[in-house]
Amino acid sequence: MNDDENTKPLSRVEEKWSNSADVYSKDGFKVFWESLELPSAYQIQEAFGDTPWIENILSRIPDADGRSDLRALALGCSHGDGVAANEFVRSGRFEEITVVDLSSKLLASQQELTDDLGLGEILRYRRMDLENDPWEFEQPFDLIFAIGTLHHIERLERLFSEINTHLSPSGLFCMREYVGPDRFQYGEKQVEIVSEIMRALPERLRTDVKGQVCQAAWQPTIDEVVEDDPSEAIRSSELLDLANRFLSVDEIRLTGGSLLDPLLHGIAGHFENNPGGREILPLLIVFEKILVRKGVLPSDYAFLFAHKL
Ligand SMILES: C[S@@+](CC[C@H](N)C(=O)[O-])C[C@H]1O[C@@H](n2cnc3c(N)ncnc32)[C@H](O)[C@@H]1O
Repeated sequence: MNDDENTKPLSRVEEKWSNSADVYSKDGFKVFWESLELPSAYQIQEAFGDTPWIENILSRIPDADGRSDLRALALGCSHGDGVAANEFVRSGRFEEITVVDLSSKLLASQQELTDDLGLGEILRYRRMDLENDPWEFEQPFDLIFAIGTLHHIERLERLFSEINTHLSPSGLFCMREYVGPDRFQYGEKQVEIVSEIMRALPERLRTDVKGQVCQAAWQPTIDEVVEDDPSEAIRSSELLDLANRFLSVDEIRLTGGSLLDPLLHGIAGHFENNPGGREILPLLIVFEKILVRKGVLPSDYAFLFAHKL
């Protein structure tokens, strides 16, 4: 790693994620595929099948049975009531869950919310820069999980090595990540297929918040991605291989997203509220599943489960 590689302006990253709700919707209109209920449920189904996700995860920690003193570390803070960390608290199986993130504002607002919800006794919030800060935790963790955070990290070798060090002997690491092309530089075939589908949609379903009718798949330039968030998808395409190098990987579930993410970027809200959009969405999900299973499209999102090496 040379000096340039670790100079992404973290202040811009922190500022962007201070209001994480604004990233996923603009003026109340959802702009991100997974903010919609159906795609979110589809991802959970692809990863966990019919078992409730929390049960599935706990069943992967060999000595968790009957215990209510588990310790977890959340890499990245999600905002809201129904987020994973809160559900782990509600399971009654955890004694302490530490949530770390770069953004102090996000942490503070989530802490306020979870205090109001009466979950504050178990949850600890700590500002931590996962690129540079030392991992100062006294006890190992039974569970370390990351939801959409690791594709923002550049020093992945260091990160996975720390995860491996801080897992208890039977501890589980679970990540749910964008693992597609770095900086969203989609391949030609993917862009072609998504663009064809985009143009087959009625114009009113592909009109973005600025009133512009999308004519093709979302294809940001690297400069646009970096300007918006210098940490975005910085080494996403290497995540699965690197996890395999530094941890003992049990299972990887490839969950798609390669049609829906570039197709619904900026226009997702139409597929929840608009007549027509609601009916088309389940078909788009089936279509994506077929394209990924047949190997026509890659899978850009994945769940990975691993133990200590
Ligand atoms: C895509 S969001 C995912 C957050 C959340 N899990 C969710 O589902 O909304 C990425 C998160 O990574 C955090 N992040 C980015 N770079 C970071 C770093 N160097 N150290 C710690 N957190 C970082 C951001 O602050 C943001 O909260």
